[in-house]
Amino acid sequence: MPIRRLILLGAPGAGKGTQAQKLMADLAIPQISTGDILRAAISRGTALGQEAKTYMERGVLVPDEVVIGLVEQRLAEADAATGWILDGFPRTPVQAEALDALLVGLGQPLEAVVLIDVPEAQLIERLTGRRSCAICKRIYHLRFNPPPPGPPYPSEHPDRPCELVQRPDDALEVVSKRQAVYRQSTEPLIAYYREQKKLQVLDGDRPPEIVYSELRRLLG
Ligand code: AP5
Repeated sequence: MPIRRLILLGAPGAGKGTQAQKLMADLAIPQISTGDILRAAISRGTALGQEAKTYMERGVLVPDEVVIGLVEQRLAEADAATGWILDGFPRTPVQAEALDALLVGLGQPLEAVVLIDVPEAQLIERLTGRRSCAICKRIYHLRFNPPPPGPPYPSEHPDRPCELVQRPDDALEVVSKRQAVYRQSTEPLIAYYREQKKLQVLDGDRPPEIVYSELRRLLG
């Protein structure tokens, strides 16, 4: 039985979402992406979305208590009972400690943390060239993973083609800020999970399908 409760850790653009989407389809467990949950709240114009937008558009982190509450609710949903892929959470030591406590309460031990390691110069190019579908969230890259010719872009959702958009926080000046925030706030989690003997490091500077086959090998 492969590992089914894991964190994908890595800098913005490392490929967490790309790999999580593949794993979700193969293992039939949900991808829990705090970034996606926050972006959905922004699109719906909720109070949470309005608050989150003020942080996300500057490339800084949404307050810990807000995202911890979101993850707590999401992990309690029925589809998370048999496993999950955390993507973009935890991102600070406070979030990591809160997750540990939450998982003890749920009786669902974390099985692995996979750090997707990519050099910073490559990350900038990945983010500024990213496009994703506003409807199904499928991720593309203008150069590394180009969408099929369009518009209209073929889709797997009924009645509508894919709607390719660029995330506002993928503008170059915001990308630089996000990388700095990662180094300062999230990189300490590498040592945190290494101490827990949960950390596995994956070389993410290879084509996505090679990274994925290595990820599957690590998960058993
Ligand atoms: P979030 O949405 O989590 O973004 P992120 O962590 O910055 O990561 P990205 O989604 O940008 O990158 P990714 O690693 O998923 O890469 P992807 O697969 O798309 O967070 C956004 C914001 O929300 C934060 O800044 C913060 O404000 C807030 N937030 C979210 N969670 C929070 C939390 N826990 N606490 C506080 N605030 C929070 O790939 C990128 C591109 O590269 C794509 O174009 C893809 O096609 C391409 N690519 C992928 N893999 C490869 C490969 N192997 N080779 C070549 N190209 C590749």
